[in-house]
Amino acid sequence: MSRTRSAFDRHAGEYAAWEFDASAAAQRARVHAVLARVVPPGSAVLDLGCGTGIDAAHLARQGHPVVGLDVSPDMLALARSRCSGLPAEFFPMDLSDPSLPPGPFGAALSNFGALNCAPLAPVARAVADRLSPGAPFVVVLIARTSPAEALALLARGRFHEVARRRRDTAVVAGVRFPFHAPSTAAVVAAFQPFFRLTHRESLGVVLPVPGALGWPLGSLATLLAPLDRRLGVLPGFRRIGDHVIFVFRRLAATRAPD
Ligand SMILES: C[S@@+](CC[C@H](N)C(=O)[O-])C[C@H]1O[C@@H](n2cnc3c(N)ncnc32)[C@H](O)[C@@H]1O
Repeated sequence: MSRTRSAFDRHAGEYAAWEFDASAAAQRARVHAVLARVVPPGSAVLDLGCGTGIDAAHLARQGHPVVGLDVSPDMLALARSRCSGLPAEFFPMDLSDPSLPPGPFGAALSNFGALNCAPLAPVARAVADRLSPGAPFVVVLIARTSPAEALALLARGRFHEVARRRRDTAVVAGVRFPFHAPSTAAVVAAFQPFFRLTHRESLGVVLPVPGALGWPLGSLATLLAPLDRRLGVLPGFRRIGDHVIFVFRRLAATRAPD
């Protein structure tokens, strides 16, 4: 069993509870606003690293058939249970070696850092094969730099964790597994043989990272969310925060990679 699978299997129950964190919910609402703008009505959506199926359920209720993929069977069990009765199917898949369902799909999504745990270029290539020209691929990655997280960690004396986003491994539920938080240039380079970047915004510029403060954010999230939204689309802020949303569009003609 891969270390990534083992980490997220162990983490699945805790992750389901984390969905209720006020900062996580505010960040997810921003992702859903972007999806509402770019995903064509009624189109089938491929959800890569779907976790507990929270986005799949949201999209299915909006009339999108969803196929969700994840390396963790325990995450997939929660997703299947959450989406019972909805037009959503779930399959095990390690995105480090993607072999995607045939589709066709009108859009693809990978939310909240699943692709920080797999090489980007093979995923971009595989997803491109399943999308028609112009179709969106919404990719939400853990950002490389989070000043809000760094301040919160420093304030709590957790100095050794401040640089954790720059490391090539991460620890979840006590298991260390491969991780990367690439620069914007590296993300664009991985996608550009097949995709054009059409939008980028950051989440969690001033909204503290879920869990980083050590106490629940509660209604403070409601106060900070509008400022976070305004800052996240400004040029100087679009690469810092908790996550970055990238909206790619499938190119009509694929340039041969390297
Ligand atoms: C932080 S969770 C995000 C889950 C979901 N997308 C969401 O927005 O809540 C990351 C998910 O990616 C999955 N994942 C991590 N590495 C993966 C890989 N190499 N292949 C497939 N899934 C992976 C994990 O099992 C986990 O469910």
